[in-house]
Amino acid sequence: MKTPRIACVGGGNMGTSLLMGLKEKGYAREQLCVSEPSAIRRDLLQDMGLSTFSSNAEVVNQADVVIIAVKPQIMPSVLAELKGIIAQSTLVISIAAGIPLAALSRGLGENHRIIRCMPNTPALKGAGITGMYSASNLDKSETKLIESILGAVGKTLWLETEAQLNAVTAVSGSGPAYFFYLTECLIETAQELGLSESTSKLLATETAYGAAVMLQDSEADAASLRHSVTSPGGTTEAALEHMINTRFSEMFHQAVHAACARSIELGNSVSGEAE
Ligand SMILES: NC(=O)c1ccc[n+]([C@@H]2O[C@H](COP(=O)([O-])OP(=O)(O)OC[C@H]3O[C@@H](n4cnc5c(N)ncnc54)[C@H](OP(=O)(O)O)[C@@H]3O)[C@@H](O)[C@H]2O)c1
Repeated sequence: MKTPRIACVGGGNMGTSLLMGLKEKGYAREQLCVSEPSAIRRDLLQDMGLSTFSSNAEVVNQADVVIIAVKPQIMPSVLAELKGIIAQSTLVISIAAGIPLAALSRGLGENHRIIRCMPNTPALKGAGITGMYSASNLDKSETKLIESILGAVGKTLWLETEAQLNAVTAVSGSGPAYFFYLTECLIETAQELGLSESTSKLLATETAYGAAVMLQDSEADAASLRHSVTSPGGTTEAALEHMINTRFSEMFHQAVHAACARSIELGNSVSGEAE
């Protein structure tokens, strides 16, 4: 199979990361196209080895895959521009948060095969995780192609229902901020305990990284790893007992449920506008 031509509408953070990830995988400049309204940004993208366009209609011309990577509020005008001009054989990937497949499909105007995804911010460092859903029939090679495109910036997983994207948004989409917040709290506390700002930052950051590596590399689950570092009567137990007594777990569950509810709410409001 020939190397596919990939067109990205929107050369911002996510679009650029995906295209640069693909470039690292060996895609040539002429296969990686991006449309972007800002001339300054287009120059930058050109210097990064991408083919740039100011017109969305032009960038999707002859593309095998179109990635729509604009902010959700821009989506209605982009869909109106692209309506009727994307070839039926082209696969369309939307990474815009909260825009349902039905709205994308109506907006593009024909029976396109669309994949809706939720990446997360660590994708900017090649360490993302992307939840993907499609209601269309994709054959084996198309499925692999989508996985390899989105896998250029981290891991990927297919979801069983579109509604699960709301849960993915609450868990991995918003998730980096939960870990950043916990790290912030640990840094502040380290300083209260008399450590310098830089030492506090180093300790908290390396601890977060080390814990993530252990979670990723170990066969044990998170609870087992926690038990294995909690000696009876020790310091870790003192902290965890305090968290349990102050209902940290209950509060955290409620917080993630709130993110999921907000994702559903935003999807409902944005989908009305995107039609
Ligand atoms: N960043 C994340 O961590 C993350 C995670 C999950 C999902 N997403 C989704 O990814 C999408 C992109 O997010 P982002 O963080 O990459 O945003 P971003 O950095 O603002 O990128 C969007 C890009 O689209 C360009 N643009 C604006 N109007 C356009 C138009 N009419 N046609 C073509 N391009 C246009 C913008 O250019 P100007 O700046 O010149 O206006 C900007 O370069 C969003 O829908 C978001 O929901 C992002």
